[in-house]
Amino acid sequence: MLWYKHAGVDIALQDNPVDQFALFKQQSKTRQNSVTDRAGQLGQSRPQIDQPTQAKIRRNTPMPETAIPDENTVKKARERAEAAGSLDELREIMAGFKGCNLHLSAKNMVFADGNPASGIMIIGEAPGREEDMHGLPFVGRSGQLLDRMLAAIGLDRDKVYLSNIIPWRPPGNRTPTPLEIEICRPFIERHITLASPGLIILLGGAAAKILLETQLGIVKLRGRWKKYPMAEHQIDTITTFHPDNLLAHPTQKKLAWQDLLKIKQKLAND
Ligand code: URA
Repeated sequence: MLWYKHAGVDIALQDNPVDQFALFKQQSKTRQNSVTDRAGQLGQSRPQIDQPTQAKIRRNTPMPETAIPDENTVKKARERAEAAGSLDELREIMAGFKGCNLHLSAKNMVFADGNPASGIMIIGEAPGREEDMHGLPFVGRSGQLLDRMLAAIGLDRDKVYLSNIIPWRPPGNRTPTPLEIEICRPFIERHITLASPGLIILLGGAAAKILLETQLGIVKLRGRWKKYPMAEHQIDTITTFHPDNLLAHPTQKKLAWQDLLKIKQKLAND
């Protein structure tokens, strides 16, 4: 178990174990048979494999439809995202989108939680293990800390709307690749447009770098108001520490508290 954990395998994708060695043997046998099939057509001996066995092999051989992560896929993602006229449509379009291979290892797509009409959108980077299992953002340990942070300034999940830049959990919580980010970017951009919040809170340097298109790190970004550009207006945006970061480095909590107070003050003034 520990060996798998260290290799980044920390979740079961199916209820039943798959014997990959048996599958490999079956696949090599099928390949061998297709070679002897061709040999048979040339008049040589041809071992038979009956229809039910062939069907069984086909059934048992997983054939994931992997996408090529390239510019074309980014373009397709943008076209699909722009076709969404509502949040429900966007969720449906994203669920049917097979251009990001992260969906192959994720158990669930994580779209959003909370109140889309709240006017406050909180955006993280990507779902973790718990979020993947439940299909909801920020429900694990860092989500519980986030709930406490929100409560400290009088907010809760009915008063905010939560989402992530990447809607499918990267295996083993690895960092999403630049192309995975570009493929998912049109969806979160459309998500923001459709939710049309008055204020965006970005959690962590990764989310901020992606959405604000900056190279600055969290130390420079946190606690500063920036504008998130939209077609017709700009949205006030603030970055603070990701709760995962606060769990790992609790001494940062006092800085996060300063950021939260800025948010509270802004909400009181608006
Ligand atoms: N971290 C994130 O960035 N998002 C989640 O939903 C959970 C953990």
